[in-house]
Amino acid sequence: MKIIITKNYEELSKVAANEMAETIKSNPKAILGLATGGSPIGMYKELIRMNKEGEIDFSTITTVNLDEYIGLSGEHTQSYRYFMNDNLFNHINIDKKNTYVPNGLAENIEEECKNYDAKIADLGGTDVQLLGIGNNGHIAFNEPDQELVAGTHLTGLTEDTIKANARFFDSIDEVPKTALTMGLGGIMKSKKIIVIASGEGKAEAVKAMVNGKISTNMPASMLQMHRDVVVIIDEAAAKLL
Ligand code: PGA
Repeated sequence: MKIIITKNYEELSKVAANEMAETIKSNPKAILGLATGGSPIGMYKELIRMNKEGEIDFSTITTVNLDEYIGLSGEHTQSYRYFMNDNLFNHINIDKKNTYVPNGLAENIEEECKNYDAKIADLGGTDVQLLGIGNNGHIAFNEPDQELVAGTHLTGLTEDTIKANARFFDSIDEVPKTALTMGLGGIMKSKKIIVIASGEGKAEAVKAMVNGKISTNMPASMLQMHRDVVVIIDEAAAKLL
Protein backbone atom coordinates (compact mmCIF):
# COMPACT_ATOMS: atom_id res chain seq x y z
CA MET A 1 0.00 0.00 0.00
CA LYS A 2 1.24 3.44 -0.86
CA ILE A 3 0.15 5.95 1.79
CA ILE A 4 -0.16 9.66 1.04
CA ILE A 5 -0.91 11.92 4.01
CA THR A 6 -2.26 15.38 3.22
CA LYS A 7 -2.67 18.46 5.43
CA ASN A 8 -6.43 18.58 5.11
CA TYR A 9 -9.51 17.53 3.13
CA GLU A 10 -8.95 20.12 0.42
CA GLU A 11 -5.48 18.84 -0.36
CA LEU A 12 -6.71 15.23 -0.16
CA SER A 13 -9.37 16.00 -2.76
CA LYS A 14 -6.80 17.51 -5.13
CA VAL A 15 -4.33 14.63 -4.75
CA ALA A 16 -7.10 12.05 -5.29
CA ALA A 17 -8.41 13.92 -8.35
CA ASN A 18 -4.91 14.01 -9.81
CA GLU A 19 -4.56 10.24 -9.32
CA MET A 20 -7.87 9.66 -11.09
CA ALA A 21 -6.98 12.16 -13.83
CA GLU A 22 -3.79 10.25 -14.56
CA THR A 23 -5.81 7.14 -15.40
CA ILE A 24 -8.18 9.20 -17.58
CA LYS A 25 -5.32 10.86 -19.46
CA SER A 26 -3.40 7.64 -20.03
CA ASN A 27 -6.49 5.75 -21.21
CA PRO A 28 -9.34 7.77 -22.76
CA LYS A 29 -11.49 4.61 -22.64
CA ALA A 30 -10.78 3.88 -18.97
CA ILE A 31 -13.36 2.15 -16.80
CA LEU A 32 -13.60 4.05 -13.52
CA GLY A 33 -15.07 2.46 -10.41
CA LEU A 34 -16.70 5.27 -8.45
CA ALA A 35 -18.01 5.74 -4.91
CA THR A 36 -20.54 7.91 -3.10
CA GLY A 37 -20.56 9.42 0.40
CA GLY A 38 -19.07 12.54 1.93
CA SER A 39 -15.43 11.66 1.18
CA PRO A 40 -15.36 11.95 -2.63
CA ILE A 41 -17.37 15.19 -2.99
CA GLY A 42 -14.27 17.44 -3.00
CA MET A 43 -12.50 15.16 -5.44
CA TYR A 44 -15.49 15.22 -7.80
CA LYS A 45 -15.53 19.06 -7.65
CA GLU A 46 -11.87 19.04 -8.67
CA LEU A 47 -12.54 16.61 -11.55
CA ILE A 48 -15.38 18.88 -12.73
CA ARG A 49 -13.00 21.87 -12.71
CA MET A 50 -10.38 19.93 -14.67
CA ASN A 51 -13.00 18.87 -17.21
CA LYS A 52 -14.34 22.41 -17.63
CA GLU A 53 -10.81 23.72 -18.12
CA GLY A 54 -10.11 21.10 -20.79
CA GLU A 55 -7.54 19.15 -18.80
CA ILE A 56 -9.50 15.88 -18.87
CA ASP A 57 -12.13 14.48 -21.22
CA PHE A 58 -14.90 12.11 -20.11
CA SER A 59 -16.54 11.62 -23.52
CA THR A 60 -15.24 8.05 -23.91
CA ILE A 61 -14.99 7.15 -20.22
CA THR A 62 -17.22 4.52 -18.58
CA THR A 63 -18.04 4.47 -14.87
CA VAL A 64 -19.27 1.70 -12.60
CA ASN A 65 -20.54 2.52 -9.12
CA LEU A 66 -20.17 0.39 -6.03
CA ASP A 67 -23.62 0.32 -4.55
CA GLU A 68 -27.23 1.53 -4.30
CA TYR A 69 -29.92 1.52 -1.64
CA ILE A 70 -32.78 -0.91 -2.12
CA GLY A 71 -36.11 0.82 -2.64
CA LEU A 72 -34.88 4.22 -3.84
CA SER A 73 -35.35 5.27 -7.44
CA GLY A 74 -32.71 7.24 -9.32
CA GLU A 75 -34.83 10.37 -8.82
CA HIS A 76 -34.82 10.06 -5.03
CA THR A 77 -32.41 12.71 -3.72
CA GLN A 78 -30.70 10.19 -1.41
CA SER A 79 -30.21 7.50 -4.02
CA TYR A 80 -26.67 6.95 -5.18
CA ARG A 81 -27.71 7.40 -8.83
CA TYR A 82 -28.99 10.87 -7.90
CA PHE A 83 -25.80 11.58 -5.93
CA MET A 84 -23.60 10.70 -8.91
CA ASN A 85 -25.65 12.79 -11.35
CA ASP A 86 -25.73 15.71 -8.94
CA ASN A 87 -22.11 15.64 -7.79
CA LEU A 88 -20.40 14.64 -11.03
CA PHE A 89 -22.18 13.40 -14.15
CA ASN A 90 -24.42 16.47 -14.70
CA HIS A 91 -21.35 18.71 -14.77
CA ILE A 92 -18.94 16.81 -17.04
CA ASN A 93 -18.98 15.70 -20.68
CA ILE A 94 -19.74 12.06 -19.92
CA ASP A 95 -22.37 10.07 -21.83
CA LYS A 96 -24.79 8.95 -19.08
CA LYS A 97 -25.38 5.75 -21.05
CA ASN A 98 -21.85 4.82 -20.00
CA THR A 99 -22.47 5.31 -16.28
CA TYR A 100 -23.59 2.26 -14.32
CA VAL A 101 -25.15 2.19 -10.84
CA PRO A 102 -26.98 -0.89 -9.52
CA ASN A 103 -30.78 -0.57 -9.79
CA GLY A 104 -32.25 -0.38 -6.29
CA LEU A 105 -35.75 -0.91 -7.69
CA ALA A 106 -34.95 -4.09 -9.63
CA GLU A 107 -37.80 -6.60 -9.41
CA ASN A 108 -35.45 -9.53 -9.61
CA ILE A 109 -32.55 -8.72 -7.30
CA GLU A 110 -30.62 -11.90 -8.07
CA GLU A 111 -30.76 -11.19 -11.77
CA GLU A 112 -29.77 -7.54 -11.24
CA CYS A 113 -26.66 -8.66 -9.31
CA LYS A 114 -25.74 -11.24 -11.94
CA ASN A 115 -26.20 -8.73 -14.76
CA TYR A 116 -24.15 -6.10 -12.91
CA ASP A 117 -21.20 -8.47 -12.54
CA ALA A 118 -21.58 -9.60 -16.15
CA LYS A 119 -21.52 -5.94 -17.25
CA ILE A 120 -18.30 -5.30 -15.33
CA ALA A 121 -16.72 -8.45 -16.78
CA ASP A 122 -17.87 -7.42 -20.23
CA LEU A 123 -16.15 -4.05 -19.82
CA GLY A 124 -12.95 -5.88 -18.92
CA GLY A 125 -13.07 -4.86 -15.24
CA THR A 126 -12.32 -1.49 -13.73
CA ASP A 127 -8.98 0.23 -14.34
CA VAL A 128 -9.21 2.08 -11.06
CA GLN A 129 -11.63 1.72 -8.15
CA LEU A 130 -12.25 4.62 -5.77
CA LEU A 131 -13.21 3.65 -2.22
CA GLY A 132 -14.19 5.41 0.97
CA ILE A 133 -13.99 3.50 4.24
CA GLY A 134 -16.69 3.26 6.90
CA ASN A 135 -15.97 4.03 10.55
CA ASN A 136 -16.50 0.29 11.06
CA GLY A 137 -14.09 -0.66 8.28
CA HIS A 138 -16.67 -1.45 5.61
CA ILE A 139 -15.88 -0.87 1.95
CA ALA A 140 -18.84 -0.20 -0.32
CA PHE A 141 -21.59 -1.94 1.71
CA ASN A 142 -19.44 -4.95 2.56
CA GLU A 143 -20.04 -4.78 6.29
CA PRO A 144 -17.89 -6.50 8.96
CA ASP A 145 -19.06 -10.12 9.16
CA GLN A 146 -18.01 -13.74 9.64
CA GLU A 147 -17.84 -14.11 5.90
CA LEU A 148 -17.75 -11.81 2.89
CA VAL A 149 -19.31 -12.24 -0.55
CA ALA A 150 -17.33 -12.01 -3.79
CA GLY A 151 -19.98 -10.92 -6.27
CA THR A 152 -22.55 -8.13 -6.31
CA HIS A 153 -25.21 -8.97 -3.74
CA LEU A 154 -28.03 -7.83 -1.52
CA THR A 155 -26.91 -6.91 1.98
CA GLY A 156 -28.32 -5.59 5.24
CA LEU A 157 -26.72 -2.45 6.67
CA THR A 158 -25.30 -2.49 10.20
CA GLU A 159 -26.60 -0.13 12.88
CA ASP A 160 -23.26 1.78 12.66
CA THR A 161 -23.73 2.40 8.96
CA ILE A 162 -27.40 3.36 9.29
CA LYS A 163 -26.41 5.88 12.00
CA ALA A 164 -23.50 7.25 9.95
CA ASN A 165 -25.68 7.69 6.86
CA ALA A 166 -28.64 9.20 8.75
CA ARG A 167 -26.97 12.62 8.36
CA PHE A 168 -28.03 12.65 4.71
CA PHE A 169 -31.71 11.89 5.47
CA ASP A 170 -34.45 13.86 7.30
CA SER A 171 -34.63 11.15 9.94
CA ILE A 172 -32.85 7.88 10.74
CA ASP A 173 -36.08 5.96 10.02
CA GLU A 174 -35.79 6.95 6.38
CA VAL A 175 -32.38 5.31 5.88
CA PRO A 176 -32.91 2.11 3.87
CA LYS A 177 -31.90 -1.02 5.77
CA THR A 178 -30.71 -2.93 2.72
CA ALA A 179 -28.61 -2.22 -0.34
CA LEU A 180 -27.04 -3.78 -3.40
CA THR A 181 -23.28 -3.73 -3.26
CA MET A 182 -20.36 -4.86 -5.33
CA GLY A 183 -18.61 -7.63 -3.42
CA LEU A 184 -14.99 -7.99 -2.37
CA GLY A 185 -14.25 -10.00 -5.51
CA GLY A 186 -15.44 -7.20 -7.79
CA ILE A 187 -13.44 -4.63 -5.83
CA MET A 188 -10.23 -6.68 -5.64
CA LYS A 189 -10.28 -7.35 -9.37
CA SER A 190 -9.76 -3.67 -10.14
CA LYS A 191 -6.31 -3.00 -11.58
CA LYS A 192 -5.74 -0.16 -9.15
CA ILE A 193 -7.52 0.97 -5.97
CA ILE A 194 -7.61 4.47 -4.46
CA VAL A 195 -8.88 4.74 -0.87
CA ILE A 196 -9.70 8.14 0.58
CA ALA A 197 -10.50 9.00 4.21
CA SER A 198 -10.72 12.25 6.09
CA GLY A 199 -11.16 13.16 9.75
CA GLU A 200 -10.41 11.65 13.13
CA GLY A 201 -13.50 9.47 13.05
CA LYS A 202 -11.80 7.32 10.40
CA ALA A 203 -8.46 6.96 12.24
CA GLU A 204 -9.20 3.56 13.87
CA ALA A 205 -10.50 2.06 10.64
CA VAL A 206 -7.54 3.45 8.67
CA LYS A 207 -5.10 1.94 11.17
CA ALA A 208 -6.81 -1.45 10.94
CA MET A 209 -6.88 -1.27 7.13
CA VAL A 210 -3.17 -0.47 6.86
CA ASN A 211 -1.60 -2.32 9.80
CA GLY A 212 -4.22 -4.68 11.21
CA LYS A 213 -4.68 -8.41 10.77
CA ILE A 214 -6.58 -9.41 7.67
CA SER A 215 -10.11 -10.23 8.76
CA THR A 216 -13.61 -10.35 7.33
CA ASN A 217 -14.56 -8.38 10.44
CA MET A 218 -12.51 -5.52 9.00
CA PRO A 219 -13.33 -5.69 5.28
CA ALA A 220 -10.88 -2.87 4.41
CA SER A 221 -8.00 -5.03 5.73
CA MET A 222 -8.50 -7.25 2.65
CA LEU A 223 -6.98 -4.44 0.61
CA GLN A 224 -3.57 -5.37 2.02
CA MET A 225 -3.69 -8.28 -0.44
CA HIS A 226 -4.06 -6.05 -3.51
CA ARG A 227 -0.90 -5.16 -5.40
CA ASP A 228 -1.72 -1.55 -6.32
CA VAL A 229 -3.49 0.41 -3.59
CA VAL A 230 -3.01 4.13 -2.95
CA VAL A 231 -4.37 5.35 0.38
CA ILE A 232 -4.90 9.12 0.46
CA ILE A 233 -5.76 10.42 3.93
CA ASP A 234 -5.58 13.70 5.78
CA GLU A 235 -3.56 14.16 8.97
CA ALA A 236 -6.59 13.57 11.19
CA ALA A 237 -7.39 10.21 9.59
CA ALA A 238 -3.68 9.28 9.74
CA LYS A 239 -3.46 10.09 13.46
CA LEU A 240 -3.01 6.47 14.63
CA LEU A 241 -0.52 5.36 11.95
P1 PGA B 1 -18.20 8.74 3.87
O1 PGA B 1 -18.52 7.20 3.81
O2 PGA B 1 -17.37 9.05 2.67
O3 PGA B 1 -19.55 9.40 3.82
O4 PGA B 1 -17.48 8.98 5.15
C1 PGA B 1 -17.53 6.29 3.50
C2 PGA B 1 -18.10 4.90 3.57
O5 PGA B 1 -19.00 4.65 4.39
O6 PGA B 1 -17.64 4.04 2.80
